[in-house]
Amino acid sequence: MRFLNHKFLEQHAVLLAIMTLITVAIGGIVEIVPLFTIETTIERVKGVRPYSPLELAGRDIYIREGCYLCHSQMIRPFRDEVERYGHYSLAAESMYDHPFQWGSERQGPDLARVGGKYSNEWHVAHLANPRDVVPESIMPSYAFLADRPVDLDHLADHLRTLRLVGVPYTDEMIANAKVDAIAQDDPNADTTALLKRYPGAVTGGFGGAPEMVTERDALIAYLQMLGTLVKFRDVSPDDLKQ
Ligand code: HEC
Repeated sequence: MRFLNHKFLEQHAVLLAIMTLITVAIGGIVEIVPLFTIETTIERVKGVRPYSPLELAGRDIYIREGCYLCHSQMIRPFRDEVERYGHYSLAAESMYDHPFQWGSERQGPDLARVGGKYSNEWHVAHLANPRDVVPESIMPSYAFLADRPVDLDHLADHLRTLRLVGVPYTDEMIANAKVDAIAQDDPNADTTALLKRYPGAVTGGFGGAPEMVTERDALIAYLQMLGTLVKFRDVSPDDLKQ
Protein backbone atom coordinates (compact mmCIF):
# COMPACT_ATOMS: atom_id res chain seq x y z
CA MET A 1 0.00 0.00 0.00
CA ARG A 2 2.87 2.32 -0.78
CA PHE A 3 0.63 4.55 -2.92
CA LEU A 4 -1.52 5.41 0.11
CA ASN A 5 1.45 6.85 1.85
CA HIS A 6 0.85 10.56 2.34
CA LYS A 7 4.18 11.72 1.02
CA PHE A 8 4.00 9.41 -2.00
CA LEU A 9 0.49 10.66 -2.85
CA GLU A 10 1.51 14.28 -2.69
CA GLN A 11 4.40 13.67 -5.03
CA HIS A 12 2.23 12.05 -7.74
CA ALA A 13 -0.24 14.60 -9.02
CA VAL A 14 -2.39 12.24 -11.13
CA LEU A 15 -2.78 9.74 -8.34
CA LEU A 16 -3.55 12.56 -5.92
CA ALA A 17 -6.25 13.85 -8.31
CA ILE A 18 -7.82 10.39 -8.63
CA MET A 19 -7.85 9.80 -4.88
CA THR A 20 -9.29 13.29 -4.28
CA LEU A 21 -12.02 12.58 -6.81
CA ILE A 22 -12.90 9.28 -5.10
CA THR A 23 -13.05 10.97 -1.70
CA VAL A 24 -15.25 13.81 -2.95
CA ALA A 25 -17.50 11.33 -4.80
CA ILE A 26 -18.14 9.39 -1.60
CA GLY A 27 -19.19 12.62 0.12
CA GLY A 28 -21.43 13.51 -2.79
CA ILE A 29 -23.07 10.08 -2.93
CA VAL A 30 -23.81 10.10 0.79
CA GLU A 31 -25.56 13.47 0.42
CA ILE A 32 -27.33 12.97 -2.89
CA VAL A 33 -28.47 9.34 -3.03
CA PRO A 34 -30.96 9.58 -0.13
CA LEU A 35 -32.74 12.35 -2.08
CA PHE A 36 -33.59 9.86 -4.86
CA THR A 37 -35.56 7.74 -2.44
CA ILE A 38 -37.85 10.46 -1.09
CA GLU A 39 -40.68 11.98 -3.09
CA THR A 40 -40.08 15.55 -2.06
CA THR A 41 -37.79 17.56 0.18
CA ILE A 42 -40.67 19.90 0.98
CA GLU A 43 -42.69 19.12 4.08
CA ARG A 44 -46.33 18.67 3.12
CA VAL A 45 -48.76 21.12 4.66
CA LYS A 46 -52.51 20.78 5.02
CA GLY A 47 -54.58 22.98 2.72
CA VAL A 48 -52.00 23.48 -0.03
CA ARG A 49 -53.48 22.49 -3.41
CA PRO A 50 -52.75 23.14 -7.08
CA TYR A 51 -54.15 26.37 -8.54
CA SER A 52 -57.65 26.29 -10.00
CA PRO A 53 -57.71 26.94 -13.76
CA LEU A 54 -58.95 30.53 -13.31
CA GLU A 55 -56.30 31.26 -10.65
CA LEU A 56 -53.68 29.77 -12.94
CA ALA A 57 -54.82 32.02 -15.80
CA GLY A 58 -54.56 34.98 -13.42
CA ARG A 59 -51.09 33.88 -12.40
CA ASP A 60 -50.04 33.88 -16.05
CA ILE A 61 -51.23 37.47 -16.37
CA TYR A 62 -49.33 38.38 -13.20
CA ILE A 63 -46.18 36.99 -14.82
CA ARG A 64 -46.90 38.48 -18.26
CA GLU A 65 -47.45 41.96 -16.83
CA GLY A 66 -44.28 41.76 -14.74
CA CYS A 67 -46.02 42.34 -11.40
CA TYR A 68 -43.11 40.42 -9.84
CA LEU A 69 -40.78 43.28 -10.77
CA CYS A 70 -42.37 45.39 -8.04
CA HIS A 71 -43.93 42.76 -5.76
CA SER A 72 -42.37 39.84 -3.91
CA GLN A 73 -44.28 36.80 -2.71
CA MET A 74 -42.02 35.69 0.08
CA ILE A 75 -42.50 36.75 3.69
CA ARG A 76 -39.20 36.26 5.47
CA PRO A 77 -39.13 34.93 9.03
CA PHE A 78 -38.24 38.28 10.61
CA ARG A 79 -40.36 40.13 13.10
CA ASP A 80 -40.88 43.27 11.00
CA GLU A 81 -42.04 41.19 8.01
CA VAL A 82 -44.29 38.89 10.02
CA GLU A 83 -45.97 41.79 11.80
CA ARG A 84 -46.63 43.59 8.54
CA TYR A 85 -47.58 40.74 6.22
CA GLY A 86 -48.52 37.77 8.42
CA HIS A 87 -47.03 34.32 9.00
CA TYR A 88 -43.74 33.83 7.17
CA SER A 89 -43.97 31.90 3.89
CA LEU A 90 -43.66 28.11 4.01
CA ALA A 91 -41.84 26.17 1.29
CA ALA A 92 -45.01 24.13 0.69
CA GLU A 93 -46.97 27.25 -0.18
CA SER A 94 -45.05 27.66 -3.43
CA MET A 95 -44.50 23.95 -4.15
CA TYR A 96 -46.84 24.05 -7.17
CA ASP A 97 -45.40 27.30 -8.55
CA HIS A 98 -43.68 26.93 -11.92
CA PRO A 99 -41.94 29.35 -11.94
CA PHE A 100 -42.11 30.59 -8.33
CA GLN A 101 -42.86 34.28 -7.76
CA TRP A 102 -40.73 34.95 -4.69
CA GLY A 103 -39.21 38.00 -6.37
CA SER A 104 -36.36 40.14 -5.17
CA GLU A 105 -37.77 43.66 -5.53
CA ARG A 106 -40.30 45.46 -3.39
CA GLN A 107 -41.41 48.69 -5.02
CA GLY A 108 -44.81 47.71 -3.69
CA PRO A 109 -45.78 45.50 -0.72
CA ASP A 110 -45.25 41.74 -0.54
CA LEU A 111 -48.30 39.94 -1.93
CA ALA A 112 -47.80 36.44 -0.48
CA ARG A 113 -50.84 36.90 1.83
CA VAL A 114 -52.84 39.59 0.05
CA GLY A 115 -55.77 37.17 -0.49
CA GLY A 116 -58.88 38.33 1.38
CA LYS A 117 -57.22 41.56 2.54
CA TYR A 118 -59.39 43.67 0.23
CA SER A 119 -62.76 43.20 -1.48
CA ASN A 120 -63.03 42.31 -5.16
CA GLU A 121 -64.39 45.83 -5.75
CA TRP A 122 -61.23 47.31 -4.22
CA HIS A 123 -59.09 45.29 -6.65
CA VAL A 124 -61.27 46.36 -9.58
CA ALA A 125 -60.76 50.02 -8.65
CA HIS A 126 -57.08 49.55 -7.81
CA LEU A 127 -56.21 47.79 -11.07
CA ALA A 128 -58.12 50.42 -13.09
CA ASN A 129 -56.24 53.28 -11.45
CA PRO A 130 -54.25 52.63 -8.25
CA ARG A 131 -54.33 56.33 -7.33
CA ASP A 132 -58.13 56.22 -6.97
CA VAL A 133 -57.72 54.12 -3.82
CA VAL A 134 -54.13 54.87 -2.74
CA PRO A 135 -53.41 58.50 -3.73
CA GLU A 136 -49.61 58.25 -3.35
CA SER A 137 -49.34 54.99 -5.33
CA ILE A 138 -46.74 54.64 -8.09
CA MET A 139 -48.30 51.43 -9.44
CA PRO A 140 -49.22 51.58 -13.16
CA SER A 141 -52.84 51.28 -14.30
CA TYR A 142 -53.97 47.92 -15.68
CA ALA A 143 -57.42 49.06 -16.81
CA PHE A 144 -57.05 47.28 -20.17
CA LEU A 145 -57.25 43.86 -18.47
CA ALA A 146 -61.00 44.40 -18.03
CA ASP A 147 -61.59 44.24 -21.81
CA ARG A 148 -59.41 41.27 -22.64
CA PRO A 149 -60.89 37.76 -22.59
CA VAL A 150 -58.96 34.85 -21.05
CA ASP A 151 -57.96 32.16 -23.52
CA LEU A 152 -60.03 29.37 -21.96
CA ASP A 153 -59.32 26.76 -24.62
CA HIS A 154 -55.68 26.36 -23.65
CA LEU A 155 -56.24 25.94 -19.92
CA ALA A 156 -56.43 22.15 -20.13
CA ASP A 157 -53.08 22.06 -21.95
CA HIS A 158 -51.60 24.26 -19.28
CA LEU A 159 -52.74 21.89 -16.52
CA ARG A 160 -51.42 18.94 -18.51
CA THR A 161 -48.02 20.61 -18.88
CA LEU A 162 -47.82 21.38 -15.18
CA ARG A 163 -48.62 17.74 -14.47
CA LEU A 164 -45.50 16.79 -16.44
CA VAL A 165 -43.39 18.72 -13.94
CA GLY A 166 -45.09 17.16 -10.92
CA VAL A 167 -48.20 19.19 -10.09
CA PRO A 168 -50.84 16.60 -9.14
CA TYR A 169 -53.62 17.59 -11.57
CA THR A 170 -55.97 14.66 -12.13
CA ASP A 171 -57.55 13.66 -15.45
CA GLU A 172 -60.83 14.98 -14.07
CA MET A 173 -59.30 18.38 -13.31
CA ILE A 174 -57.81 18.56 -16.80
CA ALA A 175 -61.07 17.54 -18.49
CA ASN A 176 -62.99 20.20 -16.55
CA ALA A 177 -60.45 23.02 -16.82
CA LYS A 178 -62.57 25.28 -19.00
CA VAL A 179 -65.85 24.50 -17.20
CA ASP A 180 -64.22 25.17 -13.83
CA ALA A 181 -62.79 28.51 -14.96
CA ILE A 182 -66.21 29.65 -16.18
CA ALA A 183 -67.93 28.40 -13.02
CA GLN A 184 -65.50 30.19 -10.72
CA ASP A 185 -66.15 33.47 -12.52
CA ASP A 186 -69.96 33.19 -12.71
CA PRO A 187 -71.86 34.33 -9.58
CA ASN A 188 -74.84 32.12 -10.51
CA ALA A 189 -72.97 28.93 -11.32
CA ASP A 190 -73.11 25.69 -9.34
CA THR A 191 -69.63 25.54 -7.85
CA THR A 192 -69.94 22.29 -5.86
CA ALA A 193 -67.73 20.27 -8.20
CA LEU A 194 -65.23 23.11 -8.53
CA LEU A 195 -64.89 23.50 -4.75
CA LYS A 196 -64.48 19.76 -4.33
CA ARG A 197 -61.60 19.82 -6.79
CA TYR A 198 -60.11 23.08 -5.48
CA PRO A 199 -61.13 23.55 -1.82
CA GLY A 200 -61.16 27.14 -0.67
CA ALA A 201 -61.35 28.67 -4.16
CA VAL A 202 -62.91 32.14 -4.06
CA THR A 203 -66.01 32.12 -6.27
CA GLY A 204 -68.84 34.42 -7.18
CA GLY A 205 -67.63 36.80 -9.85
CA PHE A 206 -64.78 39.26 -9.85
CA GLY A 207 -66.37 42.40 -11.15
CA GLY A 208 -66.60 41.56 -14.87
CA ALA A 209 -69.78 40.83 -16.83
CA PRO A 210 -70.69 37.12 -16.46
CA GLU A 211 -70.73 36.41 -20.21
CA MET A 212 -66.97 36.92 -20.56
CA VAL A 213 -64.11 35.70 -18.36
CA THR A 214 -61.74 38.65 -18.50
CA GLU A 215 -58.06 38.80 -17.66
CA ARG A 216 -58.96 41.11 -14.78
CA ASP A 217 -61.35 38.50 -13.34
CA ALA A 218 -58.62 35.85 -13.51
CA LEU A 219 -56.01 38.13 -11.95
CA ILE A 220 -58.33 39.03 -9.06
CA ALA A 221 -59.22 35.36 -8.50
CA TYR A 222 -55.48 34.71 -8.21
CA LEU A 223 -54.78 37.67 -5.90
CA GLN A 224 -57.68 36.71 -3.64
CA MET A 225 -56.36 33.21 -2.97
CA LEU A 226 -52.73 34.17 -2.31
CA GLY A 227 -51.73 32.96 1.13
CA THR A 228 -55.22 31.78 2.09
CA LEU A 229 -54.80 28.01 1.69
CA VAL A 230 -53.02 27.30 4.97
CA LYS A 231 -55.09 28.24 8.01
CA PHE A 232 -52.47 29.41 10.48
CA ARG A 233 -54.82 30.83 13.10
CA ASP A 234 -57.05 27.84 13.81
CA VAL A 235 -54.46 25.09 14.17
CA SER A 236 -51.38 24.18 16.11
CA PRO A 237 -48.14 23.62 14.17
CA ASP A 238 -48.55 19.82 14.48
CA ASP A 239 -51.95 19.94 12.81
CA LEU A 240 -50.41 21.53 9.75
CA LYS A 241 -48.59 18.32 8.88
CA GLN A 242 -50.55 16.08 6.54
C1 HEC B 1 -43.97 49.99 -10.72
C2 HEC B 1 -44.16 49.04 -9.66
C3 HEC B 1 -45.43 48.23 -9.61
C4 HEC B 1 -45.91 47.32 -10.54
C5 HEC B 1 -45.33 46.98 -11.89
C6 HEC B 1 -47.08 46.71 -9.95
N1 HEC B 1 -47.31 47.24 -8.71
FE1 HEC B 1 -48.76 46.69 -7.41
N2 HEC B 1 -48.17 48.11 -6.11
C7 HEC B 1 -47.11 48.96 -6.27
C8 HEC B 1 -47.04 49.89 -5.15
C9 HEC B 1 -46.02 50.99 -4.97
C10 HEC B 1 -48.12 49.57 -4.28
C11 HEC B 1 -48.52 50.26 -2.97
C12 HEC B 1 -49.51 51.37 -3.26
C13 HEC B 1 -50.82 50.85 -3.75
O1 HEC B 1 -51.53 50.12 -3.02
O2 HEC B 1 -51.16 51.11 -4.93
C14 HEC B 1 -48.80 48.43 -4.92
C15 HEC B 1 -49.89 47.78 -4.36
C16 HEC B 1 -50.47 46.64 -4.87
C17 HEC B 1 -51.50 45.87 -4.20
C18 HEC B 1 -52.07 46.14 -2.81
C19 HEC B 1 -51.15 45.47 -1.79
C20 HEC B 1 -51.48 45.76 -0.36
O3 HEC B 1 -51.21 44.90 0.47
O4 HEC B 1 -51.99 46.84 -0.08
C21 HEC B 1 -51.83 44.85 -5.04
C22 HEC B 1 -52.87 43.77 -4.79
C23 HEC B 1 -51.02 44.99 -6.22
N3 HEC B 1 -50.20 46.08 -6.08
C24 HEC B 1 -51.09 44.14 -7.32
C25 HEC B 1 -50.32 44.32 -8.47
C26 HEC B 1 -50.49 43.52 -9.64
C27 HEC B 1 -51.49 42.38 -9.80
C28 HEC B 1 -49.60 43.98 -10.58
C29 HEC B 1 -49.42 43.51 -12.00
C30 HEC B 1 -50.59 43.50 -12.84
C31 HEC B 1 -48.86 45.06 -9.95
N4 HEC B 1 -49.33 45.24 -8.68
C32 HEC B 1 -47.84 45.75 -10.57
C33 HEC B 1 -46.21 48.93 -7.32
C34 HEC B 1 -46.33 48.17 -8.47
